[in-house]
Amino acid sequence: MLTVRDLDLYYGDAQALDRVSLEVPKGAIVAIVGANGAGKSSLIRTIAGIEVPRSGSITFNGEPIAGLSSHVICDRGIGQVAEGRQVFPSLTVLENLEMGAMIPRARKEAKRRLEEVFALFARLKERRSQLAGTMSGGEQQMLAIGRCLMGAPELIMFDEPSLGLAPLVVQEVLRTIHLLNGRGMTILLVEQNVAVSLKISSRAYVLENGRIVMSGTGGELLHNDRVRQAYLGL
Ligand SMILES: Nc1ncnc2c1ncn2[C@@H]1O[C@H](COP(=O)(O)OP(=O)(O)O)[C@@H](O)[C@H]1O
Ligand SMILES: [Mg+2]
Repeated sequence: MLTVRDLDLYYGDAQALDRVSLEVPKGAIVAIVGANGAGKSSLIRTIAGIEVPRSGSITFNGEPIAGLSSHVICDRGIGQVAEGRQVFPSLTVLENLEMGAMIPRARKEAKRRLEEVFALFARLKERRSQLAGTMSGGEQQMLAIGRCLMGAPELIMFDEPSLGLAPLVVQEVLRTIHLLNGRGMTILLVEQNVAVSLKISSRAYVLENGRIVMSGTGGELLHNDRVRQAYLGL
């Protein structure tokens, strides 16, 4: 569904991604793991059209998307739940959700999709009139996911969805990702929480200093000595 080939990204003279290649098959959960500063967010932001790669290709559903604007990429069906739960704090829960449906592909079925999001997150329905900025961290993460779903994505990229959340809330977020995947959503998951993301992914890539240094099934990497030493402290 998504194919990235030899992607190079620079910030000025500093190279952030170095010939990154990866595949996300339809229906899969693919994880990108790596330490802080490895380039995970840069990769997500490049696929989303926020950063412009120097070279390489990105193909989604058979069509090249590198260099398109983020709005257009969203409208092709790639949704993103950005790092740090980027909700609009001074808008209500409902207004935040409506913002998610402001791309052409999502407008027609927005009403039905809102009911689906409310069915998935009862808390958002209860709090529909509350200002998003006054919600807890976990609730804001649910709202960010709900807003992304309002855009009718075929693929969702999650950038560190568990960062800064209490353990119970982390479990809930991961359950939600699993549930969405069970309903057919394709997922690209970026996490510093290596153990957890390897457990739920069908395939994973290890990113170090902007380079993919290893890939395999989640299970293979969980049992790989290098991964265990470097990322799991075992
Ligand atoms: N907007 C930016 N301008 C310049 N350098 C950046 C910018 N964003 C990230 N970087 C640098 O790129 C590298 C990768 O960062 P990032 O993609 O955020 O890593 P990760 O998400 O894995 O922590 C880091 O060295 C970071 O300092
Ligand atoms: Mg990051």
